[in-house]
Amino acid sequence: MTDLLAPRALTFSVTKNLAARSPQERDEILANPGFGKFFTDHMVDICWSEQGGWHRPRVQPYGPISLDPAAAVLHYGQEIFEGMKAYRHADGSIWTFRPEANAARMQRSARRLALPELPTDYFIESIKQLVAVDADWVPMADGTCLYLRPFMFAKEAFLGVRPAHKVAYYVIASPAGSYFSGGVAPVSIWLSAEYSRAAHGGTGAAKTGGNYAASLLAQQEAYDNGCDQVLFLDSREGKYVEELGGMNVVLVYKDGTLVTPDSKSILEGITRDSILQLAEDRGHKVERRNVSIDEWREGQASGDIVEAFACGTAAVITPIGLVKSNDFEIGSADAVAGELTMSLRQELTDIQYGRIEDRHGWLTRLDA
Ligand code: PLP
Ligand code: COI
Repeated sequence: MTDLLAPRALTFSVTKNLAARSPQERDEILANPGFGKFFTDHMVDICWSEQGGWHRPRVQPYGPISLDPAAAVLHYGQEIFEGMKAYRHADGSIWTFRPEANAARMQRSARRLALPELPTDYFIESIKQLVAVDADWVPMADGTCLYLRPFMFAKEAFLGVRPAHKVAYYVIASPAGSYFSGGVAPVSIWLSAEYSRAAHGGTGAAKTGGNYAASLLAQQEAYDNGCDQVLFLDSREGKYVEELGGMNVVLVYKDGTLVTPDSKSILEGITRDSILQLAEDRGHKVERRNVSIDEWREGQASGDIVEAFACGTAAVITPIGLVKSNDFEIGSADAVAGELTMSLRQELTDIQYGRIEDRHGWLTRLDA
């Protein structure tokens, strides 16, 4: 359902929020934003219909969305989303990281979920529009940013099971500190033996709500077992490492090789892709291949695997200290963060925050 209608008008109407938070309230939130708890004063929305294509781009006050109770998304989960961040540089300018990659992934997700594809220029413009009105919400403090959440869903009121003819695209934004309450300290992950996140031929590679819904019970099991995140194995053999509920996984071998699962049912993380590029730039070998949980377990026991980390927009790069399951444990909860893990994290965040040269041209300025 590619929507190749020429951009009718990329002119967003802007309605300012008359009940916007005061600078003082905003500063209080920005001083301790946590993750995903507070939202800025505005949101963007663009409509799509089968006849009219993309239309009515607008910026409006943040607030509840009115939906018909028969809206298809509420029944059949036809929905996709993205996650990205706006970073404030030392000179006050605001930037984002590889937005064309998020736009392209959203188009791939749209194809899989039979939703219309939002053209890349619309996607990037929608982010710029929101940041233009909510610029003061991009925090200054070290390690903080404005998390951006573009999403799209079927809003047609129709109970037959077919791709919807009316769709809405929104962008909301939320100031963010660290995703994990422990900051960058190594996290513990729970190996889900019972549940799969995504099936062969399913929607695992799409960023769609259903994948996250499928992960929630396993995520709760992780919490119940004292862990921060859940690790899923492949659904066919229950043998190969896939990814965490909301992050990719990378293992570091003692010869400096970085290994990450190659699977059609995991999300192709932009953070992971960028980190592997940075590692390659440093001369590390990178392998995208099947990695069994036994390889991880034996490799860590023998000392062949020396570091493991989780990565994603929200998590950035977070060391994995312990993998726990009903039958065995890998590593330990009080492991120290790996050296390569931390130095890649430093390099990536230095690029994102404009502290070192952006040699791959990954940054896009949002406020100019
Ligand atoms: N895997 C899952 C399931 C995710 O939700 C995310 C986060 O978006 C990632 C991996 C990492 O993707 P990215 O680095 O593009 O944020
Ligand atoms: C992201 O990293 O952007 C995600 O969507 C993952 C989620 C755990 C917040």
